[in-house]
Amino acid sequence: MDQKAQDLSKAKRAAGYKAADMIKDGMVVGLGTGSTVYYMIERLAEHVRNGMRVSAIPTSFQTAIRAREAGIPLTTLDDNPVIDIAVDGADEVDPELRLIKGRGAAHLREKCVAAAARQFIVVVDDQKVVRKLGAQVPVEVMPFAIMPVMARLRELECEPVIREAVKKDGPVITDNGNFVVDCKFSSIGNPEKLEAAIAAIPGVVESGLFCGFTKKTTVIVGGIKKCTVITSPDVVA
Ligand code: A5P
Repeated sequence: MDQKAQDLSKAKRAAGYKAADMIKDGMVVGLGTGSTVYYMIERLAEHVRNGMRVSAIPTSFQTAIRAREAGIPLTTLDDNPVIDIAVDGADEVDPELRLIKGRGAAHLREKCVAAAARQFIVVVDDQKVVRKLGAQVPVEVMPFAIMPVMARLRELECEPVIREAVKKDGPVITDNGNFVVDCKFSSIGNPEKLEAAIAAIPGVVESGLFCGFTKKTTVIVGGIKKCTVITSPDVVA
């Protein structure tokens, strides 16, 4: 691994470990998906081995497999419609703690789990912190409606592209059996309005814009030397 990749891993580990250290005995924990959450799972597993009792709700098959292998007890949203804390990564975070997520196509379950959580902890490295959201927005779409949805997304002034799988011909199929359309907008002027406009298209299941959780969000920005914690003034610890 080159120096840059090592530094990035260090930053992600620092953020992931700090988030895991915020988990308390007896909590129901939402487990996000991705390379930063990977470290959070690693650390939480350590706590579980040391006697901490938690039950966790995974947001993807990948996370469920990792958590199970790490010995973290799993549960479901059916049994726990309200979660104490959810921890997840992000692709971009803006100063108002709005997010773009879904690089790994797990944003639908991630949004369900974040919505059910009392507290939402976002773990990122410092490259993810931006002044203005501008990354492509992943949108999970029912295959049945893919063509009309693509047309409606174009009307919102973006270039929608169906995400292609790697090591499989054709489109990515999400854990929920849907397609993902990546939408590059020339500019995201009002993220809340855009999230609502995308959600209003019949056939759209969920977008990777996360604007509704800012009041319960804490962002842990990992760095090589230290972590910075940005907490919404509305968060009750
Ligand atoms: C999964 O679909 C995503 O929402 C991830 O949580 C997000 O892309 C962050 O992943 P990394 O921590 O791997 O960058």
